[in-house]
Amino acid sequence: MQHRNALQTAHRIALDYIEGLDQSPVLATASLSELKGRFSMPLPESGMDAATVIEELAGQAQGGVLGSSGGRFFGWVIGGNVPSSLAADWLTSTWDQAAVMYATGPAAAVVEEVCGDWLKQLLGLPQKASFALVTGCQMAHVTCFLAARHRVLANLGWDVERQGLSGAPGIQVLATNLHHGSIERAVKMVGLGLDNLHTLPAESLVDAVSGPTIVVLQAGDINSGLFDDLERWIPQLQARGAWVHIDGAFGLWAQATNRYKHLAKGVELADSWATDGHKWLNVPYDCGYAFVRDSEAHRASLSHRASYLSHADDARDQIDWNPDWSRRARGFSTYAAIRELGREGIAQMLERCCDMAQLIVSEASKLEGVEVLAAPVLNQGMLAFGEDSRTEAVIAHVVASGEAFVTGTTHEGRRAMRLSVCNWQTTRRDAERCVAAIAAALTSV
Ligand SMILES: Cc1ncc(COP(=O)(O)O)c(C=O)c1O
Repeated sequence: MQHRNALQTAHRIALDYIEGLDQSPVLATASLSELKGRFSMPLPESGMDAATVIEELAGQAQGGVLGSSGGRFFGWVIGGNVPSSLAADWLTSTWDQAAVMYATGPAAAVVEEVCGDWLKQLLGLPQKASFALVTGCQMAHVTCFLAARHRVLANLGWDVERQGLSGAPGIQVLATNLHHGSIERAVKMVGLGLDNLHTLPAESLVDAVSGPTIVVLQAGDINSGLFDDLERWIPQLQARGAWVHIDGAFGLWAQATNRYKHLAKGVELADSWATDGHKWLNVPYDCGYAFVRDSEAHRASLSHRASYLSHADDARDQIDWNPDWSRRARGFSTYAAIRELGREGIAQMLERCCDMAQLIVSEASKLEGVEVLAAPVLNQGMLAFGEDSRTEAVIAHVVASGEAFVTGTTHEGRRAMRLSVCNWQTTRRDAERCVAAIAAALTSV
């Protein structure tokens, strides 16, 4: 009964929230002090009715939730969730499987295996690559770097899992200026050291490979959406002995369309790939995917055996491939989204997002005082409105209007409004509301 009341309350609140998204302001309307005032209270000494907790929680969060699951959210790179993936996510919490291995959640283990197979097909990656469903692209980089670290050192006779990094041959990490900050964080986490990360023009990468080297190439820059020339560089880098890793947090999804896959041409030649489900596949947070060509290196870097665990002989144990131990059974929502949309529906969703990014940028460019800093090559674009201070003011005005949510960045020394369209729900009407909000901002700042 406790469960029924709490879940029915959450169900009603969730539906009201989702159905109200189109009419609601996209920004958070509650201030920091309001939110702190609502949530802060002395540590409860005694408990309370579960449904009341949920009712009050929703009231406390009111105005403190960004409308990022709706169609008018264009900030950072944040997707929504297709209905079946959200519903599957509810079931995931309900079933509460610790998806460590087959024995702790048989259906969870099997569904992940199917997801890995489907994702490789969708993204055009080698079917023999190993994979892991992780919390996001950040941890996908870490997972791939662990495998890369294993292989480049094993090639020199160094067993990094046993001997550690102290005294090991130094590994250098090379990247172009398109690389994302999550690469730096992965370099730190895996113990490679930021001093060993070198940002170089793509033309200089091949000559710079010497000794154990991981090269990171970008499939979709965070701001411009640009891709490194994968087809050209990957074979040359590999010929010099480098491990080539791809950051395709959102850009790898170009592979799932006929219209944009030329951008990622050659991507399947790489050694490892990191991408997200929670961005462009539109499954709930948190969900990212790591893929590794050298499955032996991947497994060697993470696999663990313990007598109290129950390892499977014939099924896939996630602990062999994932950096975490106990973890969410996040395969269910990926599985649901892929089934709901199908290969065709995924391609249509991706292309629709790109169309809407084009529409916003091209319509906004017709307004006086608007400069296009980057027309969308995929689903992202950048605009400027004169001086940096005016661009900031326009961004702030658009956000404050509640009609659309956009964020800023610095591009080639200039402040820019960046627009990223990755929500399955974004319609032409949403894009038009965004353009109208930009037009209104231009008349007021
Ligand atoms: C290009 C790129 N790489 C990596 C990341 C990190 O992804 P996540 O937040 O899923 O860990 C992002 C996030 O926006 C990104 O845009």
